[in-house]
Amino acid sequence: MTSPLRADVEPTPFTPLPWVDGGFKTVLADPPWRFANRTGKVAPEHRRLDRYDTMSLDEIKALPLDEHTATDSHLYLWVPNALLPEGIEVMQAWGYRYVSNVVWAKRRKDGGPDGRGVGFYFRNVTELILFGVKGRMRTLPHARSQVNMIETRKREHSRKPDEQYAFIESCSPGPYLELFARHAQPGWQVWGNESDVEEVRGKVHRGYEGGPIEAPAAVEYA
Ligand SMILES: C[S@@+](CC[C@H](N)C(=O)[O-])C[C@H]1O[C@@H](n2cnc3c(N)ncnc32)[C@H](O)[C@@H]1O
Repeated sequence: MTSPLRADVEPTPFTPLPWVDGGFKTVLADPPWRFANRTGKVAPEHRRLDRYDTMSLDEIKALPLDEHTATDSHLYLWVPNALLPEGIEVMQAWGYRYVSNVVWAKRRKDGGPDGRGVGFYFRNVTELILFGVKGRMRTLPHARSQVNMIETRKREHSRKPDEQYAFIESCSPGPYLELFARHAQPGWQVWGNESDVEEVRGKVHRGYEGGPIEAPAAVEYA
């Protein structure tokens, strides 16, 4: 069986991770996974689509996150559906154990599933955030009534929903660190080779501007 990830390209340089006294309590990471098929449209470095640089699985695993996080901390790790086993591997390499997940359900303006995504076996309308714990730390009280789903409309390629920040802040304590960030976020330290770039790479296509879901009003049955 072939691996869905390639390891046979030049190692990627990276700058040191941020530091905070006592270590970060909560980390959000959206790694630049390198798919085996780098020319396919799913691949982040697909030339025509001008996306972003990628890293090998070993490079992602080698990030010294353990040294920059508190003894007890939470990790929210985005992982493509095709790379679930690799996601768990990364989580463990960083010192966390998998305990749960959050599903991002991509919706159309009218609230239906947004089927414009890609997928080899199925057309994906969801993405996963793996939730891991290092040491011992419960989620904040609010989390007990928080459903493990974020439902929003899609935006630029690979851009994750801004709603993730409110979700995480209500469920896990700071200080907060975002790895592989592409946007500044109030109250968060961000790290990534595009984190201080003004313009996001990749076009915003028509119909991918995000915005509220305008679901029809619920029908009341007698
Ligand atoms: C999947 S994207 C992150 C998308 C982001 N979460 C968003 O919602 O817009 C991965 C990011 O990692 C960055 N990256 C790639 N190689 C890197 C490296 N060696 N060091 C730091 N960042 C890197 C990419 O440039 C890209 O911005």
